Amino acid sequence: MTNRPVGMLDSGLGGISVLAQALRGLPGEDYVYFGDTANIPYGDKEPEEVLRLTRQAVDKLIFHNCKAIVIACNTATSVAAQQLREELSLPVIGIEPALKPASLLPGEGQILVLATQVTLRLAKFQALMERYGDHAVPVPCSGLMECVEAGQMEGPQVHRLLQNLLTPYLDKPIKAVVLGCTHYPFLRHAIAGFLPQGTPLIDGNEGTVRQLGRRLREENLQAPEGWQGGHVTFLSSSNDEATVRRMQTMLEMALTQL
Ligand code: DGL
Repeated sequence: MTNRPVGMLDSGLGGISVLAQALRGLPGEDYVYFGDTANIPYGDKEPEEVLRLTRQAVDKLIFHNCKAIVIACNTATSVAAQQLREELSLPVIGIEPALKPASLLPGEGQILVLATQVTLRLAKFQALMERYGDHAVPVPCSGLMECVEAGQMEGPQVHRLLQNLLTPYLDKPIKAVVLGCTHYPFLRHAIAGFLPQGTPLIDGNEGTVRQLGRRLREENLQAPEGWQGGHVTFLSSSNDEATVRRMQTMLEMALTQL
């Protein structure tokens, strides 16, 4: 048992959707959240560069005494999770597009997997496609992450972008939509507006937090009984107060609206 914090990282603010889920699912833990806002986006960089940046972010979290690392970014997980697990002695938990749970849902139709170019291109997702991808349609979504970073979760620009991205798929039945980038849960309502009522929109956040809990238990790293928990420290590579304030606002939004 230890009262050291759990570290979480993303290229920017998207991983705050995972942080919110962690605060709900594992409220007894403290968290350090690092957003690599000076280097965003990861989603259209070369994998070597994403690996270098993810390593750098992890080093920062280790410097802040974190006991486990959650890569709260599908892109960075695809590129770096396996490698970092081999290199580090602390638990490294990643996130992947929730194609498996989507494929297990009842019903017919396409499963649209919204994610970054890099996530959809790499071997990790290709392996998921082979196992669960019978009806899956990968949809690279450039531009969406930028809206979330700018605090635009709805409005004409988001609407136009989603219309361009989703219209090609709307004339056939849709069984589910996978939100395969941690920024996209913030656009859940805007995306749902294009889909038949009741279409499931699935993200990987719950599964990731469950896995974090499991790994902490396995390694006997849970916060001690009676530890209050729930404390969050925000860090960003932009190193400015304004970014930290935006992170706090996003967390409040995620906790109340997602
Ligand atoms: N939030 C990241 C993910 O889950 C991607 C955003 C980016 O392109 O940097 O994939």
